[in-house]
Amino acid sequence: MKLWTPNQELKNGRFIIQKVMGGGGFGLTYKALDTSKDKMVVIKTLNQFQQTQEDFEQRQEKFLNEALRLAQCSHPHIVKVYEVFREEGLWGMVMEYVDGDDLGVYVENNGPLSATEALCYIEQISQALEYVHRQGFLHRDVKPNNILLRRETQEAILIDFGLAREYTGKTGSMTNAKTEGYAPIEQYERRGEFGEYTDVYALAATLYSLVTKEVPIPANFRKKGLSLPPPQQYNPTISDDLNAAIVRGIALEPQNRPQSVLEFQELLGIHPQAEAHLKSSLGINYSQLRNFLASGRWKEADRETARMMLAVTGREKEGWFAVEDIEMFRCEDLQIIDQLWLKYSHGRFGFTIQKRIYEAMGGNKDYDADVWEAFSDRIGWHKNGDWVTYNNIIFDISAPVAHLPRGGSTVGEWGGFVLWLGLCGVFSRIDSCEL
Ligand SMILES: Nc1ncnc2c1ncn2[C@@H]1O[C@H](COP(=O)(O)OP(=O)(O)O)[C@@H](O)[C@H]1O
Ligand SMILES: [Mg+2]
Repeated sequence: MKLWTPNQELKNGRFIIQKVMGGGGFGLTYKALDTSKDKMVVIKTLNQFQQTQEDFEQRQEKFLNEALRLAQCSHPHIVKVYEVFREEGLWGMVMEYVDGDDLGVYVENNGPLSATEALCYIEQISQALEYVHRQGFLHRDVKPNNILLRRETQEAILIDFGLAREYTGKTGSMTNAKTEGYAPIEQYERRGEFGEYTDVYALAATLYSLVTKEVPIPANFRKKGLSLPPPQQYNPTISDDLNAAIVRGIALEPQNRPQSVLEFQELLGIHPQAEAHLKSSLGINYSQLRNFLASGRWKEADRETARMMLAVTGREKEGWFAVEDIEMFRCEDLQIIDQLWLKYSHGRFGFTIQKRIYEAMGGNKDYDADVWEAFSDRIGWHKNGDWVTYNNIIFDISAPVAHLPRGGSTVGEWGGFVLWLGLCGVFSRIDSCEL
């Protein structure tokens, strides 16, 4: 039996095992260093139990085939599989190491998520699942623990493609209730028929637990008559529509569920068309800004805003704008940025909000030091006669209305300079763009 231990070298020193990250019903997951690239990777193998089985070789073949199939997938919300290798008869699958917590841990630490934040992750995973379904296979093990949240960008990444169910059998004992809660009834049946609706159930169950912090009652218990409390019962803040969509997605019988992920997205109101405006015709992609905003990471969102605006004007290198850059700023991009801020701050932050206040204080397109100071007093950028440095900007939803965006960069305590005084220009651009 093979169990790799910390500091063990594999493939003649190409990989060095760091630690075991997890051991499920069929696999063992290691964190390892890829010395050829000086990068962390994750290596997965079959576990010791599988290694003692008579048909181990067939099991390995299956495992290998899944790895190869995964390796052919290329999607921003699916973990990347780099290669497979064999070490003394045991095959390993080498994957990208994603730094961040899984959604199970994240909800454990942060409590039930807001509908906005939960839907942001569910939408990303929906896109990953649609991609997988288009390739002709199913995930079969969607659950919060199999979704990683990339620390840097707050992107949701789907991992652990449902090999598990192939190996563990469909016992459905209460001891496994924590993971069993995400599996639909057909996965408990000996000859259950699987389809896209199988992943829809698991996705809806995942959403259920994100907004309630409760694991849904396992399908086999529901089949015996135990009823599943609607999510609203645990979290009264979620809307009737969202409650109804989750209840439909997690319907016990397959025929009562949305039959595809796309159908489920439509019920949730996150049909891809609704998000088409995340990419401008210039090709600038605002999904990262959206992710930061949706998860309330205001500081990252602020910096991302400055970065995006520099990208729109081709000023990444300089790190600042000329007056003409703002005068000519693309209306479409300005609108996307503004609308994202408005949407996710529920109307508290955004250029158009700032402009409204600025004009209410008597401001117009000509810079006037007194008006600017009064405006800044009002929105919290100037306090007791002093200008507030970037370090003292309040990156919180409770900040004064119009406090954000400030458009900061990572440079110096006055990082906010990227935009700051250029803001009057932005206001007049809002006028000429008729936003
Ligand atoms: N690519 C990865 N990057 C970072 N962490 C990972 C990665 N893959 C798995 N993990 C971590 O290891 C745990 C177990 O891995 P997983 O593939 O889900 O196997 P299993 O659930 O079968 O044990 C995950 O919950 C996650 O915390
Ligand atoms: Mg897992």
